[in-house]
Amino acid sequence: MSTLLLLASGGGGDMSIFDPASPPAKSIFDLSLLVVAITAFIFVIVEGVLVYCVIRFRRGVPTDTEPPQVYGSKPIEIAWTAAPALIVFILLLVTTRTLWEVKAASPEPKAADHALFITVVGRQWWWEYTYESYNGEKLGFTTANELHIPVGENGVPRPVYLTLKSADVCHSFWVPKLGGKTDLIPGHPNQTWFMTERPGLFFGQCAEYCGTQHANMLIRVYAEPAEEFEQWLKHESEPAAEDPGMQTGKAAFLAQSCVNCHRVRGTSAQGTFGPDLTHLASRKTLAAGMISNTPENLRQWVADPQDIKPGCLMPAFNLSDHDRDQIVSYLSTLH
Ligand code: CUA
Repeated sequence: MSTLLLLASGGGGDMSIFDPASPPAKSIFDLSLLVVAITAFIFVIVEGVLVYCVIRFRRGVPTDTEPPQVYGSKPIEIAWTAAPALIVFILLLVTTRTLWEVKAASPEPKAADHALFITVVGRQWWWEYTYESYNGEKLGFTTANELHIPVGENGVPRPVYLTLKSADVCHSFWVPKLGGKTDLIPGHPNQTWFMTERPGLFFGQCAEYCGTQHANMLIRVYAEPAEEFEQWLKHESEPAAEDPGMQTGKAAFLAQSCVNCHRVRGTSAQGTFGPDLTHLASRKTLAAGMISNTPENLRQWVADPQDIKPGCLMPAFNLSDHDRDQIVSYLSTLH
């Protein structure tokens, strides 16, 4: 029951494919409208003839003799071969054009390009983001699950180029309002991109079955005005905040095996197997978007992650209440 209550507070949001906010999503949306229009037209014709015949001839043909039998008609044969072939050819052409629009290869970062480059690593069952460069400046810090991107403003587009990799099995990065699904395949980096002028929160989801917690591998993309984004970037690049009142909590954290998997930049915790916790407290959610990031949820998560996300790779460490409270207080100061 407590788990259900926790779930209600985080989780996914609007992932409509009918509200594109980025050129790749728009291309895919336009293509799907065209395909639906053509196939709906064919459907109406075929079903219309079928319904007509079912009603018109529902009592059979009212004669003793068979109706006239027709064998072979060249014009009809040619028509019903050529028309579908033409339709399929048209769909092939527009689909190919859409593929080119969506799959455009990432350029090289260069000065004043207003472009953001991020490497995404899919992991069971969360997302690792390394911010590589923005506007030609090298970055190199890592965060998890919640992406922050700038929006295009005043005629200046701000594209986001993602290099997609996997640390374990196949995943698929999908934020429907920003673009189509792109797989993250072990040993085979993929690329995708998007670009929006609409500030706000975009929801996404892993779209390739990747194990027990596949459904809880959620994505949040915060699209922010450039100035706000640049402030976030500056803050996020810095090492963890040092709170003098938190020395005991910090020591408790560093003394546990947390440090084998998690990194807190500026401390001796340098694990890379789990999410980077340097600015954990400034994230809105925990457990890859499942629950909101409140001290109480964090406390339950640290106490037993398996209770919230069964099968996830973080075990319960049977911490004493005292240690757990110390660690949670420390983590809550990592803004
Ligand atoms: Cu990752 Cu499904």
